Amino acid sequence: MTTQNEPVKFAYWVPNVSGGLVISNIEQRTSWDIDYNRKLAQIAEASGFDYALSQIRFTAGYGADNQHESVSFSHALLAATETLKVIAAVLPGPWNPALAAKQIATINHLTNGRVAVNVVSGWFRGEFTAIGEHWLDHDERYRRSEEFIRALKGIWTQDDFTFRGDFYRFSNYTMKPKPIDPLPEIFQGGSSRAARDMASRVSDWYFTNGNTPEEIKKQVDDIRGKAAANNHKVKIGVNAFAIARDTEAEAREVLAEIIAKANPEAVHGFAHEVKNAGKASPEGQGNWAKSSFEDLVQYNDGFRSNLIGTPEQIAERIIGLKNAGADLILLGFLHFQEEVEFFGKHVIPLVRELEARERVAGDKLAVAAE
Ligand SMILES: Cc1cc2nc3c(=O)[nH]c(=O)nc-3n(C[C@H](O)[C@H](O)[C@H](O)COP(=O)(O)O)c2cc1C
Repeated sequence: MTTQNEPVKFAYWVPNVSGGLVISNIEQRTSWDIDYNRKLAQIAEASGFDYALSQIRFTAGYGADNQHESVSFSHALLAATETLKVIAAVLPGPWNPALAAKQIATINHLTNGRVAVNVVSGWFRGEFTAIGEHWLDHDERYRRSEEFIRALKGIWTQDDFTFRGDFYRFSNYTMKPKPIDPLPEIFQGGSSRAARDMASRVSDWYFTNGNTPEEIKKQVDDIRGKAAANNHKVKIGVNAFAIARDTEAEAREVLAEIIAKANPEAVHGFAHEVKNAGKASPEGQGNWAKSSFEDLVQYNDGFRSNLIGTPEQIAERIIGLKNAGADLILLGFLHFQEEVEFFGKHVIPLVRELEARERVAGDKLAVAAE
């Protein structure tokens, strides 16, 4: 069921990590450097994108040999744009909430409120070990993330903030200046039961891996049901890897080439890490529980959302995801600058047309029912 009449929002993955968004040796005209990314952010803003999402990684692996830090990189993109919101990933552990709250509040002032955060809980044990961070069990990571989010909100809204958690403690802490209204939005990533439960209690947004509308709807129903019981509202963002071409055959050929040129060793290595990370949850599941080799060529199961085809097909499938409960579509591309522009020119206007048609149909039904 559509949960809102608002236009669906669009975000793109900031390529602040090398290797793009697919673990494949296919040619990718995407760069992780700042000049490329500044221009990309400007193109995205002019093309109708609402948000950009930066990634945090501390170590190499699976093609991501170079990684720029997410918060400072996000700030550089905000400084190069005027309306785009940039969501900076932060990982509890390396970040503590006092620093994150202060950093994000300052960027919020510097950019007229355009910064948001994505609190991620971690999947890569080798990364934690490399930087001397304790690797907590799956659900413990989420317990820590929840305290982290509660602390951010407390610091941003209260004077004399006092908090007694298992991971974080604050005593009569007053941070000034507080962020300007509205508060920075808090996103989170992950699809396990612990992730959904956390979303239903504290996050403003829940990001999930790519999937079919039917599977997304199951997650949405679960989260929204629990959120309602907690008197909390949470919006949903769904990942997708878009391949929009003039014909469906062309788009499918690109997908086939990405998979044919996948780096099997790197994909298996990534699969090993993420499946182990999910298996450590009590249900033995997580974001990637059902992912095949082909799915894992894209880090967050983006092919599963099936935004691969002509602009018309993609626009209809976006409406399908929206009707399953998605408020935002998070997009990865092969050649970011060209494809973000193409998407903005050829797909987003069709989505807006379909949304307008659905609104008119909805209004007619409402009138007939009166
Ligand atoms: C949209 C999205 C963005 C993410 N970004 C990052 C990131 O930048 N750095 C990171 O270490 N993990 C990132 N993750 C991974 C999550 O932190 C989490 O470990 C993973 O989704 C597994 O969660 P689960 O076991 O609850 O399914 C991201 C996940 C999603 C869905």
